[in-house]
Amino acid sequence: MHKVIETIQRTGTVTGRSGKTHKLLCPQKRLEGMFLYNLIRADAAVAKTLEIGCAQGLSSLHICAATEDRENAWHTIIDPHQNTHWDGVGITNLDTAGLDSFDLIEKKSEFALPELLQREEAQFDLVLVNGWHTFDHALVDCFYATRLLRLGGYLVLDSVALSSLQRLVDLLNKWPCYEEFASIRKPLRRSALKQWLLPFLKHLQADTWSSVLPSPLYKTLFRDDATKMVAFIKSDLDQRGSCWHDERF
Ligand SMILES: C[S@@+](CC[C@H](N)C(=O)[O-])C[C@H]1O[C@@H](n2cnc3c(N)ncnc32)[C@H](O)[C@@H]1O
Repeated sequence: MHKVIETIQRTGTVTGRSGKTHKLLCPQKRLEGMFLYNLIRADAAVAKTLEIGCAQGLSSLHICAATEDRENAWHTIIDPHQNTHWDGVGITNLDTAGLDSFDLIEKKSEFALPELLQREEAQFDLVLVNGWHTFDHALVDCFYATRLLRLGGYLVLDSVALSSLQRLVDLLNKWPCYEEFASIRKPLRRSALKQWLLPFLKHLQADTWSSVLPSPLYKTLFRDDATKMVAFIKSDLDQRGSCWHDERF
């Protein structure tokens, strides 16, 4: 693994474009990074990649480290707030690591993705969707990602423990052009009380409880066994006609 990633994970800090040191926001993201890295290393055809949502750049680092030795490797990053809210941390990390085969589009994905599509369809081997996490927004990202991915390419969704994204994963599992390829799940940790309570609470719908329970309690109760990252393979062309429907939707 790249030295810069090891240093970030050991110190729990990152440095911004301003020179300021920031706390690493998601130290537990090691698992997702390795998932991405291994997925890419296992398929030598992955070189052109696209990421929506860079933040502190942990996934960018793993993606670029995994394609570093590949011909024509190029990583396109979309993040409207990279040099403002994030103090350029993600890009600074890539620069520090000497990973320079990337470009940053500082626009919201809903504006940047149609522009990329106008340039060329099916231009990417892998797209990571990890931007704005509402269902409708992530669905728009996936709509464009499907057009931008070549046949045999990968669509990866992060943060799928969120119910909005769980719903999207369910939907993608029904699209004829995709097959779920791999996923990671957080290890199951349940207290005896939780073991007893969970079936009862789940019976009454997790979504209902999200508006009633304080957020940390909701997360503890419902999110410990949730999937964290899912990769789909585009196993077929998207050939749905305008009236295509699936009664399971
Ligand atoms: C969960 S973070 C991404 C985490 C990152 N992939 C990592 O490995 O640490 C979500 C990112 O989405 C970005 N974002 C917010 N709104 C967006 C939008 N409309 N389009 C694209 N990115 C957006 C945020 O600036 C933030 O960097």
